[in-house]
Amino acid sequence: MIYNVLMRLDRILANSGIGTRSQVRDIISKGSVQVNGAVVKDASSHVSETDSITVNGVEINCQTKLYFLFDKPDGVLTAMEDKRLPCVADFIPPELISKKLSPVGRLDYHTSGLLIITNDGELSHRLQSPKYEVPKTYLATFRGIEWTEEEINTVSGGFTIRDKGYAEQIAPAELKPLEKSGDGTAQALLTLYEGKTHEVRRIFAHFEKEVTALRRIELAGIKISEDPDSCGTLRPLTDEELKKLFDATGLS
Ligand code: URA
Repeated sequence: MIYNVLMRLDRILANSGIGTRSQVRDIISKGSVQVNGAVVKDASSHVSETDSITVNGVEINCQTKLYFLFDKPDGVLTAMEDKRLPCVADFIPPELISKKLSPVGRLDYHTSGLLIITNDGELSHRLQSPKYEVPKTYLATFRGIEWTEEEINTVSGGFTIRDKGYAEQIAPAELKPLEKSGDGTAQALLTLYEGKTHEVRRIFAHFEKEVTALRRIELAGIKISEDPDSCGTLRPLTDEELKKLFDATGLS
């Protein structure tokens, strides 16, 4: 698949820091914007980053921002380079290699599921910041006794964990045990609003349960299939999905 990097003129200018989308539309309608030497007054016209764009005669640096959803397989490193192990970069087509894409946050080597990949540094920073409390839901398969009401309430209130030899606060999270499957394995959904390293596995271990498989199935209201067979796919985010990320991080 070849990725089309054409973008709306108002979006490309807003991304480059000229102003908000509505300020940019104003500037365009006044005839101040030229594309390849010709005045363009239609904010919805499509341009590419190879076009020369000027505002009042000043050339604009329009590095295109790109947004992808990657369904990371188990056994892939969340990294853009690794000499020994398969990593996210192996799934990025050659025409996108120069676009400075990187994964937002990290999934463990043995976690599968939803990973946002972008070159939008501000969005990436905000999605990872605990300040915006972006919800992330994980489907965990685990060994151990079933979750009790008391444990579920402890998780929902937040609690202190000491598995590293010092006290750390775990923010309130939502735990929902699922019906046991026919093969006797137990599963639960856990929604976190922060992103500490190995947080899901550590929460389960705190309650004497061992996660045997982990899949992130939702982030900021963007959902993917619960089926790990869908892993390995990379696709551009839809406008609706992108809006969910911007809304969740105060960038709308
Ligand atoms: N929590 C974990 O334990 N692992 C992940 O990959 C993500 C969240």
